[in-house]
Amino acid sequence: MVEYAKGLQGVIAGESKIGFIDGEKGILAYLGYPIQTLAEHSTYEETAYLLLYGKLPSKKQLNEFDQKLKEARSLPKAVLDMMNLMPQTTHPMENLQTMVSALGSFSKNVSLLDRSIQLIAQFPVIIANRRRSRFKEKHISPDATLSHAANFLYMLTGKKPSPQTARMFDVCLILHAEHSFNASTFTGRVVASTLAPLHACISAAVGSLYGPLHGGANEKVLHAVQEIGDPKNARKWVMDKFSNKEKIMGMGHRVYKVKDPRAYILEDMLKKLSAEKKDTKIYDTLKEVENVVRNEMQKQGKSIWPNVDFFSGALYTLMNIPDELFTPVFAISRVSGWCAHIIEQLEDNRIYRPKCQYIGERQSTYVPISKR
Ligand code: ACO
Repeated sequence: MVEYAKGLQGVIAGESKIGFIDGEKGILAYLGYPIQTLAEHSTYEETAYLLLYGKLPSKKQLNEFDQKLKEARSLPKAVLDMMNLMPQTTHPMENLQTMVSALGSFSKNVSLLDRSIQLIAQFPVIIANRRRSRFKEKHISPDATLSHAANFLYMLTGKKPSPQTARMFDVCLILHAEHSFNASTFTGRVVASTLAPLHACISAAVGSLYGPLHGGANEKVLHAVQEIGDPKNARKWVMDKFSNKEKIMGMGHRVYKVKDPRAYILEDMLKKLSAEKKDTKIYDTLKEVENVVRNEMQKQGKSIWPNVDFFSGALYTLMNIPDELFTPVFAISRVSGWCAHIIEQLEDNRIYRPKCQYIGERQSTYVPISKR
């Protein structure tokens, strides 16, 4: 008998060679490569290759992979038409989930790896196209001279980003690509374990990432910053949240008991970009929230630190990415990790089917409807 653990806390639900986390020491590595090394030296394309193939590519392999990604930057017309039928109020994550599901019908008789590459290439196209349709702007065709990161910003805004902005966004994508058995990856693996097709697994993972306790937190953090308005209001805002027993979005983590290693890198980039743009109000507000939460939590013996979602939204704002796209941007990156995990799951599959501790009635007496 295995002891019951709410939310599967501490339960080892499977084996993986993809992402390693040490939550006590604040270590994150993909296939043994520390996240700091990848953020400094790699690109999103190379990181995606690493995750999918389990090793770093040679120059030739990376060029071929990059070429395949560029060739797959398009959507079938039927999917674009379907996208335009969605109500204007549809959140881009709901749109993404629906489009991924629809794309499954157009990706039959293709290998699992090639379907993964198609999805990685199509995520930015879905998100940029949808945003532009929503505001009645013409879609922008992809530019094959641009990297995965730069091309998304271009398709979104119609302007080629500066090399610095493109690189900063590329680093954001590297940082979000993989995180072991988090809720969305685990969701994808559970669906894969039933031998459902890749698009069914990925659309389920998108749904899981959407929630504010997972990837949806980055959008909520920025809403909080807007609500706070000024760093000097941060303490009162935090204390009010505590009084109402509300969580502070972007803080706390199931695995990390120290500051998330990705948050350090994101914070560093945010600090630099804020200084460059001479606009430090968001950064200063976030730092004030961080300090108040950490100190107040410490008094209660709890170790609550910023997670990956705490600084990312602010960084995207300074890159002119609208807040409704923060979680979809997370998905643009994480889709490579999801695909890697689904491939790994299928290499040594066993269906996920845990037990449930039944706490309901054992012997209910059926009363006919006329007598109830
Ligand atoms: N604000 C205030 N209190 C918090 C926070 C927070 N952000 N996070 C944890 N706590 C407190 C809880 O109230 C709880 O206190 P209690 O033991 O007195 O009840 C204790 O710390 C443990 O928290 P749990 O929610 O039980 O921790 P769990 O591991 O289940 O949840 C989670 C982790 C969901 C990330 C949580 O910290 C949270 O809700 N954070 C805010 C949402 C967020 O930022 N999500 C993104 C996470 S990163 C990602 O998914 C990409």
